Amino acid sequence: MNILLIGSGGREHALGWKIRQSKLTNKLFFAPGNAGTAEVGENLPVKADDFDSLAKACLQNNIQLVVVGPEVPLVNGIRDHFEKDPALKKILMVGPGKQGAQLEGSKDFSKQFMLRHGVPTAKAKTFTVADMGDAHRYLDTCGMPIVLKADGLAAGKGVIICTQMEEAHHALEDMLGNRRFGEASARVLIEEFLEGIEVSVFVLTDGDGYVILPEAKDYKRIGDGDTGPNTGGMGAVSPVYFADNTFMEKVESTIIKRTLAGLKKEDIAYKGFIFLGLINVKGEPQVIEYNARMGDPETEAVMTRIDSDFVELLEACARGQLRNKKLVIDPDFAVTVMMVSGGYPGDYEKGKVIEGLPQTGGALAFHAGTRMKGNELVTDGGRVLAVTGKGKTLKAAQRNAYDSVSGISWRGVYFRKDIGVDLLFEEPLDRLDGCREGS
Ligand code: AMP
Ligand code: GLY
Repeated sequence: MNILLIGSGGREHALGWKIRQSKLTNKLFFAPGNAGTAEVGENLPVKADDFDSLAKACLQNNIQLVVVGPEVPLVNGIRDHFEKDPALKKILMVGPGKQGAQLEGSKDFSKQFMLRHGVPTAKAKTFTVADMGDAHRYLDTCGMPIVLKADGLAAGKGVIICTQMEEAHHALEDMLGNRRFGEASARVLIEEFLEGIEVSVFVLTDGDGYVILPEAKDYKRIGDGDTGPNTGGMGAVSPVYFADNTFMEKVESTIIKRTLAGLKKEDIAYKGFIFLGLINVKGEPQVIEYNARMGDPETEAVMTRIDSDFVELLEACARGQLRNKKLVIDPDFAVTVMMVSGGYPGDYEKGKVIEGLPQTGGALAFHAGTRMKGNELVTDGGRVLAVTGKGKTLKAAQRNAYDSVSGISWRGVYFRKDIGVDLLFEEPLDRLDGCREGS
């Protein structure tokens, strides 16, 4: 089939790399893609949120399956747009409609949804600027640290964790009163702080059947040892030692099954990925967020651990035939190191010539922010390359990734030197028998 993958980051390159391997894939297109995606398919000069141009591109290229990478087109209703047009409606799509995407698009919606359906999550209350007084009074009753969350999409930036009460009142004022995150912080959640290690779990579902993809740990801070400002993600590791059978059974029974039952009960059709941002609180998984898409850079690690034909699963998802589908997982470890532009996540320069590709010493280099300038590959974003190494052990995967990273360079390049180091003390998982079943 002809497939269109919407997006332009490392996640889309990794998804495209996997999709390209399927015998079911005929032509593969990206909208708009990057220099890496151009190596596995054809880039179309169409923006991810320009629905009319995407529709035209689908018809012109006889697209049978659309896979939506990022959240913005989902939250803006790309599925609804396609479904209401008779010419587009027959095109299969992986990605929920506007209503389902509210799991990511509104943190208040997702919090109330979790509470309605008994999905374990942190306690929270939502306030608008009209209840500023109540918000401050409520905050006074909370212990520290406390988490303040903008309700809407804020490009991964809408969360502030405060350790001092005074700082929390200021942040609240800034978010609600000064609209620090624009309309996204017109409503703010004051949420209990959960202490524990985070893990990302990914589910592909058609609303009924589902498969659980390999889990991953994301490294969000810019500096080694989890220091400095938050970023879009500086690296990922999969598998994660504490996501053992016992933990994953809890995730499945208390989170995945309840979430899918909740969607069904509320009549929200959902065909796509659900990304569960979890915290392991003393062995108990709690949800800190849902996303309606795959994670980035987790996808760059996770895709390399899937042995199944991924297009078969994507097609089954879009057709509502995922029940009884199985996912075959490679038990080897994957470590992804994100190479970024100097200055990121603050200001940075683009257009630096990248040296050392395509020879990567055995690892995979997924492109995030790159473009071709004449014959030269140049940087074109903050996150530039996601280099993924594989290995029988975490240590071997890490070595493979970092050996390759050390051969790639550009002026001002930066990367964390400690991806996976915090997990190194653990032995490989015993639960990975190469296969995890759906419902
Ligand atoms: P989110 O945008 O909801 O993923 O939040 C961004 C980051 O803030 C998460 O990855 C966590 O590190 C942190 N965070 C969010 N909610 C909580 C919470 N309730 N307790 C502790 N940390 C949190
Ligand atoms: N890696 C976190 C995210 O994609 O939101």
